[in-house]
Amino acid sequence: MSESTVRKLNLLPMFGHTKGKRSPITCALKCDNACSGDVCNTSSNSYFRDIASAAVSRRAALGLGAAGALAVVLGGNLGGAQPASAAGTEAGLSAAAKIGLQKSKLSFTAIKPVDAAVDKFTVPAGFTWQPIIRWGDSLFADSPAFDINNQTAAAQARQFGYNNDYTDILPVPGSKDRRALLFTNHEYTNEGIMFPATLPAAEVRAIGRAAHGLTVVELERQNKNKPWTYVKGAPLNRRYLTDTVYELTGPAAGSELVKTIDDPAGRWIKGTLGNCSGGTTPWGTILSGEENFNGYFVSAGTSSSDKRYGLTSKPTSRQWELDEQRFDTRNAGYANETNRFGWVIEVDPFDPSSTPKKRSAMGRFKHEGANVIVAESGHVVAYMGDDERFDYLYKFVSKQKYQPGDTAAARRHNMDLLSEGNLYVAKFTGNSPAAEIDGTGKVPADGAFDGTGEWLPLVVDGASAVAGMTVAEVLVYTRLAADKVGPTKMDRCEDVQPSLHSGKVYVVCTNNSDRGKPGKEGATEVNPRTLNRDGHIVEITETGDQTSTVFNWNLLMVCGDPAQGDVTYFSGYPVDKVSPISCPDNVAFDSVGNLWISTDGAPSGIGYNDGLFKVTLEGEERGKVEQFLSVPRDAETCGPVIHDEERTVFVAVQHPGEEGTFDAPHSYFPDYVQAGVTPAAGQVRAPRPSIVQVFRTDS
Ligand code: FEO
Ligand code: CA
Ligand code: CA
Repeated sequence: MSESTVRKLNLLPMFGHTKGKRSPITCALKCDNACSGDVCNTSSNSYFRDIASAAVSRRAALGLGAAGALAVVLGGNLGGAQPASAAGTEAGLSAAAKIGLQKSKLSFTAIKPVDAAVDKFTVPAGFTWQPIIRWGDSLFADSPAFDINNQTAAAQARQFGYNNDYTDILPVPGSKDRRALLFTNHEYTNEGIMFPATLPAAEVRAIGRAAHGLTVVELERQNKNKPWTYVKGAPLNRRYLTDTVYELTGPAAGSELVKTIDDPAGRWIKGTLGNCSGGTTPWGTILSGEENFNGYFVSAGTSSSDKRYGLTSKPTSRQWELDEQRFDTRNAGYANETNRFGWVIEVDPFDPSSTPKKRSAMGRFKHEGANVIVAESGHVVAYMGDDERFDYLYKFVSKQKYQPGDTAAARRHNMDLLSEGNLYVAKFTGNSPAAEIDGTGKVPADGAFDGTGEWLPLVVDGASAVAGMTVAEVLVYTRLAADKVGPTKMDRCEDVQPSLHSGKVYVVCTNNSDRGKPGKEGATEVNPRTLNRDGHIVEITETGDQTSTVFNWNLLMVCGDPAQGDVTYFSGYPVDKVSPISCPDNVAFDSVGNLWISTDGAPSGIGYNDGLFKVTLEGEERGKVEQFLSVPRDAETCGPVIHDEERTVFVAVQHPGEEGTFDAPHSYFPDYVQAGVTPAAGQVRAPRPSIVQVFRTDS
């Protein structure tokens, strides 16, 4: 069998297993068919039923009067993090509620949902859009121009990579609003639409590798009312590739569990893989989650840890194991290679010569991302989801405290905060009788899906809190450790983000097509729908400081399309007055604390293209969902950035035209070159994952 035949066979998706999920091709390439395979979490870790005695008042669950729980961001102008909110109360309203009543500076009329067959980027009346940077765009002075029919690995390594997820735009200090850094990651590749079928398989694999990793690129604009353009050859531009070396930090660094023949010290790891969402820290670094790393490795697939992390002995889709021994852990000296992925990485985009880090103290699982907040006590708290059906929600609390200010010394100190601290996993308890959680999404008699919760310790004060496991074992095999302490099995936690306005934490559960199936856990109050196709969002209010080990929670929304008869809940807001929304994934906040949600999977849920939605969190309109934009055919919306004070929104458009082929594209985004027309310089007639800016036409 020729290599190119092998390539085609291995790229064939597994059809028929994607109901309530994204496209079969995305499933195969992005998640290694996670949803068609067995559930990784087969632990007998109980699913508690609702405990009526754990009642909390609706008022407490909503955080009213809980001003003491407010955390503040202390200084940190570099990071692009949102400004600190004014703590305190007035006339019985918490600071959060007061802020929520303010008007966002980005007003718009919600767009209508767009049918999933439409290959169009849709924005509200009065707005327009423009790509900032596209797959293949040249980053460096010596980068060749993109030529889709004559691609090489050497060229791709000097060009913008494929499929972006987490994205942020950080102002360059002192640039008078005219300069910024754009960070984004390159989660995965789709060889079937990237390359002509005639390209040799070995070249396909090499270009594919070069299209992974991360990109930092400088942006410029004339003034803050003008759109950004990227600067080719700018000094801070950087591509992080599969051979870029990352330093493993924290308690697992140097342990036997992470050593390989290439790295006997267990501290230096080549590359980052499957980077999904992320977060920006108040000290100006970027975090990115290594999510579906298992899809890049061949393993024995027989150990409990291989099974728990979805590692198998089948050839991978991309077959990099043919080129590098480390991608088959059965090769001598590479047994631990998979233990070197599945971490949160931290990079300093302002220093292109810096060594990026992998943070072992934050645990190893299929990290969606990580978002931090500085607690009142000064400790830094990171919230993290493990995006797999029936997996868990985690929290990290730094040992050291944040140092405010923009001095070099403070920044150096803060850049080590995520290397040491406590790690917890969440257990949720509902307060309604189990019989009232019927699996349909119908709200129980007390009027809310709500209750209390605990952060169960895994590592505390440098010691393991899990019987029979060392700290290094807990951090490397975090899923196995968590199974032992009884956390709540969730419906695929994606972004988990604290509001810097209110301190409340938003946990995005994207869907879980297996909940309630025979042999699988059924509905619980915090995951209240069986065969959960459309997802829901949990709102957590920590009790006291953000470092607390107990919390209250309620569901902000249970997603779907009320017009199609889905049972939904939007915190009591009338369901006939919301934009339909399905498969929430990434979130962001605007300057007054509204929540913005991007979606991934809506086409197979409610039949519309994915999009970006604004959700009001406080006041009379709490729960109101308004669709702001819709991405083109087969794409998901990622990495939202809301600069509403400049009336600008940014999104990553990931995998446009995913289900097409190179010869028969499903999308022509973003260049939209017409058939028979010679493309203008820099354009191609093919889909290109891109970072897009949306701004007012009167800007
Ligand atoms: Fe890459 Fe959890 O989405
Ligand atoms: Ca309840
Ligand atoms: Ca995601």
